Amino acid sequence: MERTFVAIKPDGVQRGLVGQIVSRFEAKGFKLVGLKLVSVSRELAEQHYDVHKDKPFFKGLVEFIISGPVAAMVWEGDGVVAGARKLIGATNPITAEPGTIRGDFGLNIGRNLIHGSDAVETARTEIDLWFKEEELADWEPTIAPWLHE
Ligand code: RTP
Ligand code: MG
Repeated sequence: MERTFVAIKPDGVQRGLVGQIVSRFEAKGFKLVGLKLVSVSRELAEQHYDVHKDKPFFKGLVEFIISGPVAAMVWEGDGVVAGARKLIGATNPITAEPGTIRGDFGLNIGRNLIHGSDAVETARTEIDLWFKEEELADWEPTIAPWLHE
């Protein structure tokens, strides 16, 4: 089953939006398989955003991610990688559609509340980077027959 890595960034945690954000993934029907609050090390932040290491915003992005706790999650479901990105919305909250997390709660590209893996392969790498195997729960929601044919 497809999985994705989602992280509520320090602005989302500080603003008390963890519950509302988690609710949106639950309401959609995705299955939560991992959840923890992390004080992110500089090394982890740099590894996570390694693809952006040559961009002008990299230093500021790393400083932001290590500035407070991050709520790290793994969600599972059919099409969850693209589905999570849909729930999250466009990178810049000003252009993100209303109804998306960034569109409803954000104003600024450097404070866009949440990260979601951009591809199935990236998701695998990010889940391995952030979670140990024993931190992921293998469980069957009892409502599954009401969500899937
Ligand atoms: P993320 O990786 O955090 O889920 O965001 P994303 O895929 O929508 O966007 P990406 O291009 O991967 O950029 C990663 C994060 O870098 C910050 N950023 N700042 N100042 C800027 O021009 C700029 N561009 C990107 C954002 O926090 C973005 O989420
Ligand atoms: Mg990205």
